[in-house]
Amino acid sequence: MMWSGCGVEVTLAIVALVALFIYLTSNLDYWKKRGFPQIPGKPLPLFGNTFQMLTGRKSFSDMFEKLYKDAGDLPFAGMFHGTQPCLLVKDPELIKRILIKDFHAFMNRGFEIDEDLDPLNAKALSSLKGQRWKNMRARLSPTFTSGRMKAMLPMMQACSDELLKCLEEDIRKNSGEALVEMKLFMIYPKLIKKLNLRLSVDEASVFFRNFVEEAVKRREEAIDKGEGNGFGDFLHHLVLLKKTGIKVNEIKEEDDEDKNEFIKGDKEVSEVSWANISVDDLAAQAMLFFGAGFETTAALLSSTLYELSKPGNGKEIQGRVREEVDRVMKEDGGKITYEGLKRMQLLDRVLNETLRIHPPAGALSRIAVENYTIPGTDLKIEKNTMIFISTYSMQHDEKFFSEPSKFDPDRFLHRNEWNHFSFLPFGDGPRLCIGERFAMLQVRQSLASLLSKFEFDLCVEKTPVPLKYAKVSFILASETGIWVKAKLRS
Ligand code: HEM
Repeated sequence: MMWSGCGVEVTLAIVALVALFIYLTSNLDYWKKRGFPQIPGKPLPLFGNTFQMLTGRKSFSDMFEKLYKDAGDLPFAGMFHGTQPCLLVKDPELIKRILIKDFHAFMNRGFEIDEDLDPLNAKALSSLKGQRWKNMRARLSPTFTSGRMKAMLPMMQACSDELLKCLEEDIRKNSGEALVEMKLFMIYPKLIKKLNLRLSVDEASVFFRNFVEEAVKRREEAIDKGEGNGFGDFLHHLVLLKKTGIKVNEIKEEDDEDKNEFIKGDKEVSEVSWANISVDDLAAQAMLFFGAGFETTAALLSSTLYELSKPGNGKEIQGRVREEVDRVMKEDGGKITYEGLKRMQLLDRVLNETLRIHPPAGALSRIAVENYTIPGTDLKIEKNTMIFISTYSMQHDEKFFSEPSKFDPDRFLHRNEWNHFSFLPFGDGPRLCIGERFAMLQVRQSLASLLSKFEFDLCVEKTPVPLKYAKVSFILASETGIWVKAKLRS
């Protein structure tokens, strides 16, 4: 009896395993059935083509770099992320269609966040979908105009001054040289400390919700008393808009520089009012700006210093940028000004070249919101198919950039000659990074301040050349950190 009982269990287990295997492999001919070219090699049941990423053996960017290379000359190729069929798109013309021309068919990014489980992240602009995304993007765009950025420069300068002071103290204490790890904490050390940012995701949501609620209340009171003009930061502007209850169609043209023609024509958007924005909505955006903004901007600043501190070519370019900073500051009475930063064109090329080699966000994603036939073919991308664009790989592809691993800022002197869609560190189209201007200003300002006072050498004992990227990180970040030796300029 016992044996036969065991036999039934074993048989059931085998049947269950076979059923599971059939279930897991049944979709693996998804692309073949629809006539799409596919990444060569057999996708694995359950893990698809992304086994190494899902098991923490390869970073997101390294995984996509491999798939991009495996796809060879194919303009697009079907693949599986786990069990989900996705399309890797390599052709700049098709990328242009997906991001801009036919954006209406690929409006969403494809992150599924359960609003009941994680209300703040679900309400953040980056995860919103369809009309809700359009309404929020239209509300937030006026917060990022060049006028507002200019007004924020003194605040950025104050943060940099604090950083320079800390670094100088460190250098003096350590007989003329400080060893520094470049990371997030470099930019706003005091703020990080003040906010006690050692938080888990849940704690972070509660923290931001309470923090924003309290801050909004105080700012509103200050504005009522006519005392609120001194802040000038993102939150202040958001609270001002909330208080005025302005509708999107009442915002002046010059106060909305976003390229979002797609949104401007939308009837529902134009009636969206600031009056009924909730504290949760505000907190969600504050948390997003903090997360999406800080990590990426810090990654750009660190990798730029890494490139400029490398012995040889890097140090030579560091010298040239410093000369430019010195010259422009001298022309502007020894100060770093908004107009001066715009005139630092080598600095701009250096930042772009760093973004090419180390794009903090290594890939873009969209999801098809309707069936879409790829122009010139009869291949249909079905609704709900995830699209990936490996910006890291395109920016390292010899087809688009000669000697792609060489750090050569001057290649940006010929920017108009290359295909715009092969260089997309901030994405493109109506859903491109809303914080691009802010990030570039902040990094330009920090770097100009640092180079005006210090000289940097890479600590090669602690930082590998070329850099190794962390395997488990959402953004492209060094596995070992980036360590530089800083000394005061002679
Ligand atoms: C060097 C710094 C940064 C890089 C490289 C970067 C990169 C990106 C990229 C690639 C995207 C996706 C674009 C697309 O899908 O087409 C994105 C979206 C976004 N970024 Fe950034 N970003 C940076 C800084 C910032 C900052 C400072 C902020 C806010 C203050 C910010 C806020 C956002 C938001 C809200 C989105 C979602 C936009 C939407 O869905 O409408 N980013 N960013």
